[in-house]
Amino acid sequence: MHIARTLPELREHLGRFQRPAFVPTMGNLHEGHLALVRQAKPLGDVTVASIFVNRLQFLPHEDFDTYPRTWDSDCEKLRSAGCDLLFAPDEKALYPEPQTCKVHPDPVLADILEGHFRPGFFVGVCTVVMKLFSCVQPRVAVFGKKDYQQLMVIRHMVRQFALPIEIVGSETRRAEDGLALSSRNGYLSEAERAEAVQLSKALQAMDSALRSGERDLAAIEARAMQSLKERGWQPDYLVLRRRADLQAPAPGEPLVALAAARLGATRLIDNLEIDL
Ligand code: PAF
Repeated sequence: MHIARTLPELREHLGRFQRPAFVPTMGNLHEGHLALVRQAKPLGDVTVASIFVNRLQFLPHEDFDTYPRTWDSDCEKLRSAGCDLLFAPDEKALYPEPQTCKVHPDPVLADILEGHFRPGFFVGVCTVVMKLFSCVQPRVAVFGKKDYQQLMVIRHMVRQFALPIEIVGSETRRAEDGLALSSRNGYLSEAERAEAVQLSKALQAMDSALRSGERDLAAIEARAMQSLKERGWQPDYLVLRRRADLQAPAPGEPLVALAAARLGATRLIDNLEIDL
């Protein structure tokens, strides 16, 4: 695996390839990321991953400074997953001057849910993803469905700017008990880790209620919020939304359940597509 730290190094190495397949990450890699790399591999003639902890997508009180930087094990994992090229710029290389030109995604999609609770988050994500796309110039890029809204916001950005990049969504990888794999799971204490699966259980309960014929979405959402609160969580949202655009659904439209909740100091997100 070749490692490029600067844009000229990246461009030089990419020059002989036509169809880069790209997996952007912030490092602290787990099996979910590696699955994205493996999925990307047959889709291009060179498999590129990036590691860049993007300051722009963190709020001032969030974990930018403490976000785990696990360089050696990340490189080892990427090598074993078959990554050919790792782009790992430092802040000066990616943002040589203050990044005052930013991508503001459609607020209808980006200012709800995650964007509501983390204002500016998707501006930061879209800005860095646009910049990474411009550096790597991939033909295809793979993103996890675990960050469901992020995937939708990026798809929308790519469509609106007519970027010649196919965006592939990859199924969420889960631990044996059902907890969605996430870099932030590493923040959980042993007791919290045992409890954490309740987030996906709450989504499954919403799914079961719908499957058993219940159609009062507000009541299903309220029960899910209450069940987590009673277990000591601080939920931001547990909602049922239209899968197409994450807005309030009309009867019969395909749904996705989305959740974000804090367990102790750790904020976890998860989602479940519901097929009735
Ligand atoms: O999902 C992530 O890890 C990040 O939001 C991304 C897409 C790498 C942008 O920093």
